[in-house]
Amino acid sequence: MIIGIVKETRPGETRVAFNPETAAKWVSKGLEVRVEKNAGLASFFTDEAYKEAGCVITDDAVTGADIILKVNRPTDAELAKMKPGSLFGGFLWPAQNRELVDALLKAEITALGMESVPRISRAQKMDALSSMSSIAGYKAVLIAADALAKYMPMMMTAAGTIAPAKVLVLGAGVAGLQAIATAKRLGAVVEAFDVRASVKEQVESLGATFVDVPLAEEDQQAETAGGYAKELSEASKKLQEEAIQERVKQSDIVISTALIPGKKAPLLIRASAVEGMKPGSVIVDLAAEQGGNCELTQADQMTEIHNVRIFGPTNITAALPLHASQLYARNLNNLLELVVKDGALSLDFEDEVVKGSTVTHQGEVVSPFVRSQLGLSAS
Ligand code: NAI
Repeated sequence: MIIGIVKETRPGETRVAFNPETAAKWVSKGLEVRVEKNAGLASFFTDEAYKEAGCVITDDAVTGADIILKVNRPTDAELAKMKPGSLFGGFLWPAQNRELVDALLKAEITALGMESVPRISRAQKMDALSSMSSIAGYKAVLIAADALAKYMPMMMTAAGTIAPAKVLVLGAGVAGLQAIATAKRLGAVVEAFDVRASVKEQVESLGATFVDVPLAEEDQQAETAGGYAKELSEASKKLQEEAIQERVKQSDIVISTALIPGKKAPLLIRASAVEGMKPGSVIVDLAAEQGGNCELTQADQMTEIHNVRIFGPTNITAALPLHASQLYARNLNNLLELVVKDGALSLDFEDEVVKGSTVTHQGEVVSPFVRSQLGLSAS
């Protein structure tokens, strides 16, 4: 079997699907691993390092490969080169890319979507969403700290005492919790809010204060069975907005990470709240790709409005390429180990991790979650 590691072409992308460490595991199992020239260079993995791991460097790792690995979705040109029955692994976001799902079905590709890996305990080692979100939360705080016109920690100097920065984290999922931990390490005073009441304990265990926002009766259980947030009722949105606006105005840094799967990001920070922030404050809006949690966010831009700097990075993990690639490669490797047995593809759809992660196989959409997202009947 041949594994192809493709060089990413998304603008600004620095990650690579497999690093030499993970590639070597498959070489030692007797597979041929082809790596496109300079595929790992932006993550600081040289062609030489891949060669030392036993890989072959090539101009085209797609043609003739049985397994094609990427971080981002395949391009049309790559799809055209994939052979029927081959396996693709990477982020696909099927609900947002219906035409890609149709193309994968037509080309008879077995496609594993890294976003579709079930969020259950057994699949944690394959959960690239968590690995990447954690990096995003960490890096968001560093960007904010760098742009802030103040110290983060309390400083006792001969010239007087400086109060610590106040950081507000909106959305305490994986990215939000890592943002809280990072801001705490830098010495800030941190508070956080999430619609899922179940995260209160996690926020407090990191030493942050949980902002209690009274929600309408129907939103007391704003969490789905899968652990994700539900969209709030109009009444709760209003209550939340009022409470959040006040907290925003008192914060030096706001890191917003609030997302609802398959929907536009909830709008949490109005322009009027930004106007009320102290000059020199910073917002890092990690929901920028889904429309932003802040009304003034512009995707992939830094905007300075009312003396507040607002960052809207859409691929922040690319700013930490070495560890982003290393962790992604390990997640992808762990998933691949479930579906490649004795040098051949072997997909066991009795296994909920395999079934949930398989977006397309032999002309069918397999993952129950993806089927429901695409409005297809249960298989
Ligand atoms: P996400 O990226 O979809 O959303 C980020 C956060 O925004 C969530 O905590 C969500 O509750 C919050 N949010 C949504 N609307 C909001 C609003 N209006 N105001 C404030 N906050 C709002 O979530 P993520 O980080 O992917 O985690 C989702 C769930 O998956 C969590 O329950 C997490 O514990 C669970 N999970 C389970 C894993 C496992 O068992 N293998 C691994 C990773 C996550």
